[in-house]
Amino acid sequence: MNEEKRTKILKKMNDVLPRGRWTIFNAMSYTPRAGGKNLRAMLMLEVADDLGVEGILDAAVAVELFHSGTLIHDDMPEIDDATLRRGKKANHLVFGSGMALLAGDGLFFLAFKLMSKYENLFPIFSDVAYDVLVGEAMDVELEDRKDFSENDIYEMYEKKTGALFGFSLSAPAVVVGLKNWKEFERMGRKFGIAFQIYDDIKDFTMSSESVGKDVGKDVNKKTLVKILGFEKAKEVADGIVEDIFNFLRSEKLENAESFLRGSLDLIKRG
Ligand code: IPE
Ligand code: IPE
Ligand code: MG
Ligand code: MG
Ligand code: MG
Repeated sequence: MNEEKRTKILKKMNDVLPRGRWTIFNAMSYTPRAGGKNLRAMLMLEVADDLGVEGILDAAVAVELFHSGTLIHDDMPEIDDATLRRGKKANHLVFGSGMALLAGDGLFFLAFKLMSKYENLFPIFSDVAYDVLVGEAMDVELEDRKDFSENDIYEMYEKKTGALFGFSLSAPAVVVGLKNWKEFERMGRKFGIAFQIYDDIKDFTMSSESVGKDVGKDVNKKTLVKILGFEKAKEVADGIVEDIFNFLRSEKLENAESFLRGSLDLIKRG
């Protein structure tokens, strides 16, 4: 079931990614094709199945392309200075910084183009994209900032990582006209906070071979793991995940629940 969805996502992605004799086309295609977990797109399609929504594949692929663009920029020397992404050399190390910068921008534009066919989703996605940018900027600024609170870090996680998960969970609810779609969004954003905590834990407990990206990159970062301590941060993340499962159950989103349950191990370790 999941594999069928993944195949659809990868095929659509392949169809929309550009090709041609200019380097920008290779640079734009390289990171999305490098083999991410595609969790955000998969989650959206599972929720769509639960709600009986069809025709949402372009929106799911748009989210993945946008996400890949943020990762290209995130790895650049000016931000995280990472060398490995999805088990391969980071985009800027293959194509150079200028081209990587443009490839990220190109993926954002492509994502918006795909999203433009969904009249109701487009303005929501625009706000979400903006939140991701603000969250990523908060992450950069917090690194050197002395005056900050625990809440600032929660807000940064909710924006840089939660916004896209909030969109994935709520987009099918918006399309089908559910009145409580904002509750879906809120829960998805909350899930993103847990996801980012697990990612932070991986940064200092796992090897770069097993996660396919640089580790030990967060030494100078403000992370919840550092502020709360490993045990407490894990407790927060596990608590959020339980809340999400309860929410999914209460909304009868069985496919989404079983997908997230089945992905937990990958989220914590892969
Ligand atoms: C990585 O996201 C960036 C974070 C928000 C921590 P993923 O762990 O979903 O990365 P891919 O898409 O599978 O490579
Ligand atoms: C990045 O967070 C989240 C984005 C929105 C790009 P991280 O910097 O922790 O992601 P990884 O660990 O490099 O994947
Ligand atoms: Mg980062
Ligand atoms: Mg990073
Ligand atoms: Mg990380």
